[in-house]
Amino acid sequence: MNRFVGGNWKMNGSGFEGIAWMQSVKEGAGGLSGVDLALFPPFTLLPVLAEDAREAGVMLGAQDVYFEARGAFTGEISVSMLLEAGCEWVIVGHSERRHVIGESDGTVRRKLSAALAGGLSVVLCVGERLEERDSGIEEDTVRTQLASALGGLDPIDPGRLVIAYEPVWAIGTGRNATPAQAVRMHDFIRSTLRGLVGDGDAPGCRVIYGGSVNPGNAGDLLREPSIEGALVGGASLDAASFLSIAGASRDG
Ligand code: PGA
Repeated sequence: MNRFVGGNWKMNGSGFEGIAWMQSVKEGAGGLSGVDLALFPPFTLLPVLAEDAREAGVMLGAQDVYFEARGAFTGEISVSMLLEAGCEWVIVGHSERRHVIGESDGTVRRKLSAALAGGLSVVLCVGERLEERDSGIEEDTVRTQLASALGGLDPIDPGRLVIAYEPVWAIGTGRNATPAQAVRMHDFIRSTLRGLVGDGDAPGCRVIYGGSVNPGNAGDLLREPSIEGALVGGASLDAASFLSIAGASRDG
């Protein structure tokens, strides 16, 4: 399966910036093969960028979704609204949703189930906080997050689920996990997935890394076979940086 490199713009970016970014990626991505590119801009940019994204070979995704189909849920957005806006993907369980907004594991599970059932593909984010790593319980944290989100689900098309390991202490801090730390957790995630989903087989979905990935550290991380791509925040705002990271992934 191709590697997966996604840009998570968070609450950044304008329509003008998005259109220019797509143009740059379209011009610069020509030599890239073996890597799926995705952009997760703010909701308002999704319909603005849908056509340009198609032309640039970039899949569009949303940063969040609500689990109900419709109704009195002020401020929320449904799976079908995202599909209509041109989305193929959605991020579920990002650490900023979990720890800044206060989403529970139960909410993450409901969102993931609704997204997959409704036809979106999902990037499920998991990762421990610094105090959890310092206490040596990072694997327990990630196991709980995976089990709560995925335990007992029907078999999932592995192409439609990406697990992003994003240690909270590495997000937006400039302090990335070392390749060895990431590889160890990625291997743990793969072994945990075995048995959680479907009939006991590992679902074979891609496991990618996120947390202060930039053009300077992407090569070291992405040359590891078990790091099958990246979810990139700050460095994705610049198209050249994003392309450089995608290029490092292709070479991996
Ligand atoms: P960062 O964000 O690359 O800015 O650390 C990553 C993410 O939150 O997905």
